Amino acid sequence: MSACCATRPARTTHSTSAVSYTHLATAAVIVEPVQGVGGAYDLGAPFLQALRERCDAVGALLICDEVQCGMGRSGESFVSKRYGVQPDMLTSAKSLGNGFPCAALLMSPRVAAAIKLDALGTTFGGGPMACAAIEAVIEAIESEHLLERVREISSLLRERCIVGPVIAHQGEGLLLGLRTARPARQIQAALLERDILAGTSADPTIVRLLPPYVLKSEHVELLRAALLDIGS
Ligand SMILES: Cc1ncc(COP(=O)(O)O)c(C=O)c1O
Repeated sequence: MSACCATRPARTTHSTSAVSYTHLATAAVIVEPVQGVGGAYDLGAPFLQALRERCDAVGALLICDEVQCGMGRSGESFVSKRYGVQPDMLTSAKSLGNGFPCAALLMSPRVAAAIKLDALGTTFGGGPMACAAIEAVIEAIESEHLLERVREISSLLRERCIVGPVIAHQGEGLLLGLRTARPARQIQAALLERDILAGTSADPTIVRLLPPYVLKSEHVELLRAALLDIGS
């Protein structure tokens, strides 16, 4: 048995090459539907759907790592849902507790049925603080209509912030990659000088943005002004 970690090759060929790596000896495919640290690479619905079909064909499990891209960050509860794919297992953390350290592993009834009583032990699992934090996060996302807000602010960022050193964008929702004409680290430092925190990634020309879901349009304008000030 083996597990396959699908890395994302060039945008045009990713579906076919990832699918061809998945064969009868593959136990599971673990995939991050939007690759965060990789550079906010959105794998897209056709890629994930092709993997789902291939996993079903060869009897492999599809596991989505949504630690960074899930829990509303894409503007949908989970990216796999946005892409119309149901994974067998899904990992969640980070936004799950909005800063409180916690994580969750979601699984299909078929996978869950394989876990017998006493098969799993966990020191902190089901801790009341973590569970209360998760409940509060879900409540806030729903009552403050944060998924809609993520989608709106994401569109605004894409529309307003392809200026100065930024030449393109990628990602989903508020896990965005701004492709820069100069090294991303230079742009990150220049943004920090203007009081704007941004991240970098494994891709040296991607500035990675993971702002809070409550970001407002005036913050987008501040970023635009900073990018224009930095210049190309
Ligand atoms: C996509 C992804 N998966 C897993 C992890 C690891 O999560 P944790 O630090 O909660 O173990 C990270 C951490 O950055 C991540 O970005």
